[in-house]
Amino acid sequence: MVQSVLITGASRGLGYCFARKYLEDGALVFAGVRDMNSESLNLLKQQYPDKLIPVKLDVTATSIINEAVKMVEKYTDHIDILINNAAIHSETSFEVLENADIDQCLEVYDINAVGPIRVVKAFLQLLKNSQAAQIINISSESGSISTCKREKEFDYCMSKAALNMGTKLLSNYLKKDNIKVLAVHPGWMRTDMGGSNAALDPYETACQLVYLFNQSNNQGDEPIFIDNTGNEFPW
Ligand SMILES: NC(=O)c1ccc[n+]([C@@H]2O[C@H](COP(=O)([O-])OP(=O)(O)OC[C@H]3O[C@@H](n4cnc5c(N)ncnc54)[C@H](OP(=O)(O)O)[C@@H]3O)[C@@H](O)[C@H]2O)c1
Repeated sequence: MVQSVLITGASRGLGYCFARKYLEDGALVFAGVRDMNSESLNLLKQQYPDKLIPVKLDVTATSIINEAVKMVEKYTDHIDILINNAAIHSETSFEVLENADIDQCLEVYDINAVGPIRVVKAFLQLLKNSQAAQIINISSESGSISTCKREKEFDYCMSKAALNMGTKLLSNYLKKDNIKVLAVHPGWMRTDMGGSNAALDPYETACQLVYLFNQSNNQGDEPIFIDNTGNEFPW
């Protein structure tokens, strides 16, 4: 059966690579973008005119997310895989505390931690309509409290730790609906966020992660926070 996949932050980086990979695998892909004129996505749309549906989606705006639901409902009555991928760092994230603009933490928290929960809430019925839906929250090792050695990136690290808690709460709540919820550390990738010195190619990472998601069962006996090899990551 053709999978219906929704990805936030699909204009570039890992989100774009997920869209490309799922299209190559024959899925119907709803690519959430803030700017509908995304050049990269328009090129992909030429290759997959019927399977790629760009959807305007800013994860901070409930009204826009609700419009996105209506748009998706024109094509399908269910979502099999939701990938909450959109995220940011603030401009002063890598500054030491004395120089960091801590007020910027709020926007980062809004996008990285609250945004995924907003999207899940809005798309919940479509997820429930799937036989065995998966919600994938793209987290980070930087959200792991027990392994943390950093002294900076308050905005980003705290938002990803909060996303991990959101993942656990969703996992507990949605077990009864046979919806699997995962938090995934994708690794350090060469994207706008990761920079050019990063170790991993984002398309190769997307392929590896899609393989893992396809292996996963919905029995509730697997770890919830994993790395890009499928191993459990410490909270
Ligand atoms: N890169 C790494 O090394 C690394 C490591 C660990 C975890 N991660 C995680 O992996 C995921 C993807 O990261 P990436 O490296 O691909 O990042 P990226 O290249 O910076 O792309 C971020 C994406 O998020 C979108 N976005 C930002 N704010 C948004 C909002 N309010 N609503 C909707 N979309 C929004 C951007 O859209 P616009 O084009 O409109 O700005 C863009 O598509 C993130 O969750 C990140 O935290 C990345």
